[in-house]
Amino acid sequence: MAQKAEIKIGENSYELPIVEGSEGEQGIDIGKLRGSTGIITLDPGFKNTGSTKSAITFLNGEKGILRYRGYSIEDLAENSTFIEVAYLLIYGELPSVDALNTFKTDIKTHTLVHEDIKKILEGFPSNAHPMGVLSSLVTALTAFYPESLDPNRSGDEVNLSIIRILAKMPTFAAWAYKNEVGHPVNYPDNRLDYCSNFLKMMFALPAEEYEVDPVVANALDKLLILHADHEQNCSTSTVRIVGSSQASLYASISAGINALWGPLHGGANSAVIEMLENIKKDGGDTKKWMSKAKDKDDPFRLMGFGHRVYKNFDPRAKIIKKAADDVLDKLGVQDPVLDIAKGLEQEALSDQYFVDRKLYPNVDFYSGIIYRALGIPVDMFTVMFALGRLPGWIAQWKEMRENNEPIGRPRQIYVGENARPYVSPEDR
Ligand code: CMC
Repeated sequence: MAQKAEIKIGENSYELPIVEGSEGEQGIDIGKLRGSTGIITLDPGFKNTGSTKSAITFLNGEKGILRYRGYSIEDLAENSTFIEVAYLLIYGELPSVDALNTFKTDIKTHTLVHEDIKKILEGFPSNAHPMGVLSSLVTALTAFYPESLDPNRSGDEVNLSIIRILAKMPTFAAWAYKNEVGHPVNYPDNRLDYCSNFLKMMFALPAEEYEVDPVVANALDKLLILHADHEQNCSTSTVRIVGSSQASLYASISAGINALWGPLHGGANSAVIEMLENIKKDGGDTKKWMSKAKDKDDPFRLMGFGHRVYKNFDPRAKIIKKAADDVLDKLGVQDPVLDIAKGLEQEALSDQYFVDRKLYPNVDFYSGIIYRALGIPVDMFTVMFALGRLPGWIAQWKEMRENNEPIGRPRQIYVGENARPYVSPEDR
């Protein structure tokens, strides 16, 4: 028999169903609570609220488990590729050889963007942040593919929108960078794989040969796998909630990019490097900065530390720390901020403040160091995160549509003024 929870309000008791997930996670279904009691639940930041049942990503913050469609992040990072992981997230299963080849070919067929999009790009000043440029160009896709505005089209038509955004995001991302540095844009090279094509569009210069370094392409591919999905985080919830109004895929993804931008979410990867650089400039005294992070009168936080759901360790951080060592070693890069990062981590792991609050390095603590070694500039780091998170956003949007979920509309507890009459200006 299904379990039930009981809630007592005054003299009255109400039974609420308990929903159980495939990993034994339980949630009290409060969907009918307001109807029967007139009372809502209050949970700022949704720290304790499930917004959906999802079959895409499982994570257990206490045990440090992250799985996409049942496959562990460690297994996928070691053995898979980003494109294969994208397929897995979006369609639910690992692809056959034929399905994977078709998927890759489909993506390659759509990497070019309409020439008029270049005119939009040229309208941005060169100091425009690439995240703003990226989200604008993604929204602009709605104008070039107006049929995409209707998310209730046939599966094949929706799939074409999915392929298009997967194909065009690397082009947009590289072009946002080219706009920033004032260089002419490069067109996609469809002989190359997903990451190599992106790197060539980023770094190739006119009249110069550009060979993609496979070490760099592989490292990037792994970073994108680690960022590909993370269940109902801030940007993903944004994508789902925007999509729940039946806004288009492109509008929903663009909203997700903006949600990712902030320093408490995807923006943390660039904030980490800025922080490490500041510590280096300041003489490298990690103890001083640790004290600042603990001082409640100081707004400084140790960026790249702490996580909303991981309270023991972030499994992605473990993989990334090792990858940072490997990549810097293979590329022969010596980065003094890597030593500062390791020093900070060492101190934080044995510091009572951090231990008590279960604050550990998160995925972004070391990712910026790798991106830097790959030659990617700091304000492009969050764009890289968006590129990685794209398949997750698509999968979550598709699941929400296929489940025909209702429009997202939280309630509130009103704490403002009670009803009062209008007062004319001369009487105020
Ligand atoms: N440095 C110093 N103190 C911290 C930090 C930090 N990085 N993170 C949390 N705390 C303290 C916080 O001051 C609070 O202390 P107290 O209980 O004394 O008031 C306690 O730890 C709990 O903090 P919280 O903000 O309530 O925790 P949260 O789980 O709501 O926040 C977080 C999670 C990621 C927003 C936060 O840890 C943070 O701001 N970290 C730095 C930014 C960062 O690295 N973000 C990337 C997240 S991973 C990438 C992604 O998935 O987007």
